[in-house]
Amino acid sequence: MNYALNAENVRKYFKKNKKIVHALKGIDLKIREGEVYGLLGPNGSGKSTFIRIASTLLIPDSGRIEIFGYDVVKEASKVQKLINRVSVEASFFRKLSALENLLFAAGIHGMSKKEALMKINDIVERVGLDKKRLNDPLENFSRGMQQKVAIARAFMTEPRMMLLDEPTTGLDPRAKREVQRLIEDMKHKMKATILLTTHDMEEAEKLCDYVAIIHRGRIIVKGRPEELKAKISDKVHNPTFEDVFMEFTGVRFDEAEYEEVETL
Ligand SMILES: Nc1ncnc2c1ncn2[C@@H]1O[C@H](COP(=O)(O)OP(=O)(O)O)[C@@H](O)[C@H]1O
Ligand SMILES: [Mg+2]
Repeated sequence: MNYALNAENVRKYFKKNKKIVHALKGIDLKIREGEVYGLLGPNGSGKSTFIRIASTLLIPDSGRIEIFGYDVVKEASKVQKLINRVSVEASFFRKLSALENLLFAAGIHGMSKKEALMKINDIVERVGLDKKRLNDPLENFSRGMQQKVAIARAFMTEPRMMLLDEPTTGLDPRAKREVQRLIEDMKHKMKATILLTTHDMEEAEKLCDYVAIIHRGRIIVKGRPEELKAKISDKVHNPTFEDVFMEFTGVRFDEAEYEEVETL
């Protein structure tokens, strides 16, 4: 079967102040086309490292990731044409307007100005951004609005696979709900496969068709949200994701923040 993303035994370590941090210890993931796949884990579990490897920004020490059959290391430029990524802290030209930022991104992707303006008009409508504000500098936008512009910018290029690294982290509850609704909408309207990382269990349950829980650089369990809960339903009555995590790792999710180090 051809997967949207197929990761096999991906490992990555970092050297940090004469110490070694094992960020990924052999990750296997298979994502089918059209799925919203959630990588759920506490801070430091390896989520961003995985996203950065998948989006060709970082090279794994061993193992491989293919996106629609293309190797992210050997065929990076092919992969780059098929994906886009939104990180926690989206980078903008903060003094420039939303429109100018969107035009700039379109230019990088080789669109003519005319094509870009059409795409921007379309995506701004889909995303539900207020057109009157398109000429305001980005720095005057709330974090939630900025995140929406970042998501609009990323979907503008119509990627077949979208990598969203903690798209709602740091947003207030209302902005968070809006961005979550936007992601659900985008799934339907843009027909993209979405890999989303989060440390918000509710979000994973709400948005994702399939969830892999990552802890200390390893996937500890994966399945559809209801399957994950069913796995422990004989032990816990009405289990939550928190219970699933606790059952498989022996630690509480909110106490699981992690940095393993080895002295060189
Ligand atoms: N560039 C880097 N240099 C050194 N250590 C890093 C680097 N990037 C990530 N790490 C370490 O790797 C581990 C996993 O980090 P990360 O993938 O960012 O986790 P998450 O996104 O789940 O919070 C952490 O211990 C982090 O400190
Ligand atoms: Mg991260």
